[in-house]
Amino acid sequence: MTIEALDFQAWMGAVQARMESALERLLPSPAVVPARLHEAMRYAVLEGGKRVRPLLTFAAGELVGAPEERLEIAAAAVEMIHAYSLVHDDMPCMDDDVLRRGKPTVHVEFDQATALLVGDALQSLAFQLLCEPELARSSAAQLEMVKALALASGSRGMAGGQAIDLESTGKPLTLPELELMHIFKTGALIRAAVVIGAQCGEALDGPATSHLDRYAKCVGLAFQVVDDVLDSDGSTATLGKTAGKDAMQGKATYVSAMGLSRAKELAEDLRRQAHAALEPFGERAARLAQLADFIVLRKF
Ligand code: IPE
Ligand code: IPE
Ligand code: MG
Ligand code: MG
Ligand code: MG
Repeated sequence: MTIEALDFQAWMGAVQARMESALERLLPSPAVVPARLHEAMRYAVLEGGKRVRPLLTFAAGELVGAPEERLEIAAAAVEMIHAYSLVHDDMPCMDDDVLRRGKPTVHVEFDQATALLVGDALQSLAFQLLCEPELARSSAAQLEMVKALALASGSRGMAGGQAIDLESTGKPLTLPELELMHIFKTGALIRAAVVIGAQCGEALDGPATSHLDRYAKCVGLAFQVVDDVLDSDGSTATLGKTAGKDAMQGKATYVSAMGLSRAKELAEDLRRQAHAALEPFGERAARLAQLADFIVLRKF
């Protein structure tokens, strides 16, 4: 049976398993010098997380008939940027968290300097992976992939969103400011995961590219709205990270800005908008539609 023919839960499990072995292979061996840094990089990336971004890369890739051998490398690059962002996000100079993916955070298990370097090295490795030969349908498409990941990680993407997050701690943001922060810190990389998956297969025409991008923007924002909701509504045991920290630290979130129930309604509205954006694709986009549901309805 091909991976495409599986039901959603089985498909998700198959992609997650495939990604685990790809990441295991693509990360430097702990037997190679500097062993402690390599061990910490592997600790940060392996055996943990929902792998939502790789799932989106695979689902977008299915839409354009992309080979799985390409998708796993492209998805690994996105996941490495994500893992790096989590390692730095948890450091004492940022959110100061001790628990991530059910384990002690990297700076706790290793030390702060190692955590800093893990992030640096994962970021470089991500871009190295996107330089693997014939990852996209053409060299031009592959350059677009590199650019999409760079933009999503930089000051008008994840790093910029994190800067706004830190600056606005303890201060209320207006809804447009909050939306911009969330689109930057989380939405941008989620959007890149979709765009990069689509570059691994046949080209989409202009309108189809816009529909897919509209979907990606909706799920990207929805993802962080739900993250805010779960921080307030979930438990540490289920989340594998400390619940209730946003309120404790005075973070600007959708829950602090509009309350829990309106934040949940917003996530639901974004789920509907994501589905609407996929309508022109019909059944071809079934996986992407299922992932929009997973992103909004998840409990962890
Ligand atoms: C958590 O991301 C941090 C945000 C960007 C909101 P995930 O919820 O995707 O974390 P993992 O990868 O599953 O641990
Ligand atoms: C983190 O947002 C976003 C990035 C890591 C870029 P949060 O600080 O809300 O993520 P969690 O809740 O610690 O996972
Ligand atoms: Mg944070
Ligand atoms: Mg955090
Ligand atoms: Mg959070």
